[in-house]
Amino acid sequence: MAVKKDRLIVFDTTLRDGEQSPGASMNLTQKLEVARALDLLGVDVIEAGFPITSPDDFEAVQAISRELRRPTICGLARCVEKDIVALGKALSPARHGRVHVVLATSEIHRKFKLNKTKSEIVNMAVAGVKLGRQWADDVQFSAEDAVRTEPEFLAEVVEAVIAAGATTVNIPDTVGYSMPWYFEGLIAGLFRDVKNINKAVIAVHCHNDLGLAVANTLAAVRAGARQVECTINGLGERAGNCSLEEVVMAVRTRTDEFPGVTTTIDTTKLYPTSRLVSRVTGLAVQRNKAIVGENAFAHEAGIHQDGVLKERTTYEIMRPESVGFKQSSLVLGKHSGRHALAVRLKQLGFTLAAEKLEVVYERFKALADRKKEIFDEDLEALAETELHTAHEVWKLASLHVSSGTSSIPTATVELTDAKSVRTCDASTGDGPVDAIFRAIERLTRLELKLEDYTIRSITGGQEAQGEVRVQVRHGGTLLTGRGLSTDVLEASALAWLDATNRVLAREARTAPSKRKK
Ligand code: KIV
Ligand code: ZN
Repeated sequence: MAVKKDRLIVFDTTLRDGEQSPGASMNLTQKLEVARALDLLGVDVIEAGFPITSPDDFEAVQAISRELRRPTICGLARCVEKDIVALGKALSPARHGRVHVVLATSEIHRKFKLNKTKSEIVNMAVAGVKLGRQWADDVQFSAEDAVRTEPEFLAEVVEAVIAAGATTVNIPDTVGYSMPWYFEGLIAGLFRDVKNINKAVIAVHCHNDLGLAVANTLAAVRAGARQVECTINGLGERAGNCSLEEVVMAVRTRTDEFPGVTTTIDTTKLYPTSRLVSRVTGLAVQRNKAIVGENAFAHEAGIHQDGVLKERTTYEIMRPESVGFKQSSLVLGKHSGRHALAVRLKQLGFTLAAEKLEVVYERFKALADRKKEIFDEDLEALAETELHTAHEVWKLASLHVSSGTSSIPTATVELTDAKSVRTCDASTGDGPVDAIFRAIERLTRLELKLEDYTIRSITGGQEAQGEVRVQVRHGGTLLTGRGLSTDVLEASALAWLDATNRVLAREARTAPSKRKK
């Protein structure tokens, strides 16, 4: 099948569907930071939130609409008047605003979720699009669960919403059920059967439940879809969405398969953007993740290393620099000054205000005392930690742990609170890390349920810094915390405090404190 020579519209939904990943919630400052990075990356459309769902989402869509002038800013609404009105208001400061309305079309959703007939669905979809057009000229309709919808009925809905004024029609694989060849056929069928199809852009939005989100998206592009909906690092509901970095690099690397298909993405910003999203959400990127995983360009086998040294293309289909990877190099040492640190951080993409730079410098000196070689990854981790822990309420003042094969693990923790008052307490636990967490809970009087604990080293070698990430549950919400130190027990304490501080920041924004007295 010949691919139409056209530009691919990249629609990023990291801030909406991506934020629906368990534990990935972001505050307004973090959403703005991600939105600015998406703008620099060159995405065409940023889906900034679902305004009716919470005041936080409303505020995020409004603030991003106010600040970013180049990309189209989009928000989500059900085909319900109150949703569309809230969205229209949130988008009102946007230079290019898009109303995105969604309604399920599959039999299973019609019958069990909506209790609506086919003609009621068509009427609701048309009404939603028409109401959306009262707020914006740019209206997108999504047929939720399109893949499990009868193809003839899907064609009927698509034709009706285009006639009602939809400028983009999205065909989602909401539950990640499709096979690439089925999806290619479904999209090709719409181009064949829907009379007015050329009046709208056809978009696709694929979930990754069977690990096929990128493959399905690319199959749809072959059939003529010209908007791809995706997220950084493939974040999203359940197994996530189509990964932006993968789909963009696939069309760029395989121009033979996608002749003439281009995007406006500055691919050298893919890796820094992936790191930023990982930092603000607290969700680590798996090492072997395509394009942005730490091992994506690492050649381990001797035979591969030998081949790459002789001719890079023997084992490399993309250049690491083309996605923004920098070679790790030994940069600074214990005698380096503030200026050298600031210059190197700037080269790594961090511009820090003077007081933040001072904190990073102090941490850098402390690290240089513990660790002979300081790598770019160490500096990035220090700067990320400082940016990440901007809302500190509790700080670690000191930590003492005693543990062994025949003694009860005990931790003594000293913290300072927001008023710099020091408090100290101790606890036993199942192990040293558990004892630390229990001691911190006694001091902060905030109980968190540990759901996940991971530890990794930032660089190689015995003196490497350890990064601990914890995923905790508080009420119904999952949050993550991150801690960094050459001592993994200290990193664990810092991660627990980071999670605690995030819970407190969230509570301060939303409900009155539910802490135990
Ligand atoms: O997965 C889905 O169907 C969605 C729609 C809102 C596009 O996220
Ligand atoms: Zn989705």
